[in-house]
Amino acid sequence: MSKKILITGGAGFIGSHVVRQLVTKYPDYQVFNLDALTYAGNLTNLTDVEHRPNYHFVKGDITDETAVNALFAEHRFEAVIHLAAESHVDRSIADPFAFVKTNVLGTVVLLQAFKELWFNNWAGKRFYHVSTDEVYGTLGETGLFTETTPYAPNSPYSASKASSDHFVRAYGETYGMPFVISNCSNNYGPNHFPEKLIPLCIHNILHGKPLPIYGNGKFIRDWLYVVDHARAIDLVFHRGVDFETYNIGGFNEWTNIDLVKLLCQLMDEKLGKPIGTSEGLITYITDRPGHDLRYAIDARKINAELGWKPTVTFEQGLAQTIDWFLNNPEWLANVTSGSYQGYYDKQYNTKDK
Ligand code: NAD
Ligand code: DAU
Repeated sequence: MSKKILITGGAGFIGSHVVRQLVTKYPDYQVFNLDALTYAGNLTNLTDVEHRPNYHFVKGDITDETAVNALFAEHRFEAVIHLAAESHVDRSIADPFAFVKTNVLGTVVLLQAFKELWFNNWAGKRFYHVSTDEVYGTLGETGLFTETTPYAPNSPYSASKASSDHFVRAYGETYGMPFVISNCSNNYGPNHFPEKLIPLCIHNILHGKPLPIYGNGKFIRDWLYVVDHARAIDLVFHRGVDFETYNIGGFNEWTNIDLVKLLCQLMDEKLGKPIGTSEGLITYITDRPGHDLRYAIDARKINAELGWKPTVTFEQGLAQTIDWFLNNPEWLANVTSGSYQGYYDKQYNTKDK
């Protein structure tokens, strides 16, 4: 079956793994990657697939209505897998408007362009919104997020993602647009941008810098290897039911402090340093405002209905992730130079240290 698919945000962390999954597994598809190449977008994430005949890169901003409409008119995409977003909670606390613009307005621009193209001709069409478990807010010490957990976003980032989910549903209800949404837990793996906890700590261990732990470090996240997320997206895209939501997660909860200690131990082993060396870099700092205590996904629906489950244990995934960063020092050096340094100094108050 030949298909023209638009993937947005394909030069980012998760998007690049989704592009690779589809381009290599479905040679008959024409995969278009629309990405603005913000600080988080990086075409070197895709050097292994960029020469494939079924892959096409388009540099562009999803909030640019004229450019998006022209792209849809030219290529008549039958499906959209939408990942482009501002994705970092701390940046959303500093600059909420950027998140409203890309995550809310940008999503509506895409929905509207798709609707203008296919309204009343929806057979075989699909709009897939890749979303986050953060829309559900925070859990206490027990319980799991299910697909029916009420939305209660707590950060500007999660509020913008919740809003974009609502717009997707609204286009389904109002215009009959066939959609699927998936809400996933924290990803980790190769190409993870080092503003996020795991790659930030790997980078800082390599440079002997402090490992900043917000608050008491007892906050809990549910970690999933990014390639397993890309496989789940492939399954939901092809076999998910229209107008349905799927929660994706690894049943893999860790407190931040236990996770960072495990990472320190693995890094010491890999670097041939005495165990305990990296742990000595752990530094508790002021908490993130509105910091959600715990995320944990109930992934039984995607498991029961689509047969998905993670293929990689956390220990395997973390080891593979560390190996990837150790084998790609130029990737890490490139993305941490320039504007990232300014962000880091401001976020961690390190300018004059
Ligand atoms: P990322 O920040 O690594 O990548 C985002 C990509 O979107 C970048 O390539 C960037 O250039 C592009 N982009 C940003 N603004 C754009 C715009 N206006 N127009 C076009 N392109 C733009 O993000 P990620 O971590 O890969 O997350 C991808 C998606 O998955 C996001 O929608 C995020 O909300 C969601 N998600 C992420 C996680 C996670 O743990 N990282 C978990 C669940 C869901
Ligand atoms: O749950 C899915 C979400 O996971 C995605 O929707 C987001 O796009 C993604 O960024 C991620 O959000 P988090 O805020 O959970 O990820 P982050 O890596 O920023 O933080 C993970 C935990 O570590 C969180 O409890 C905050 C803490 N932390 C983070 C940083 C950057 C620290 O203690 N110190 C830090 O320096």
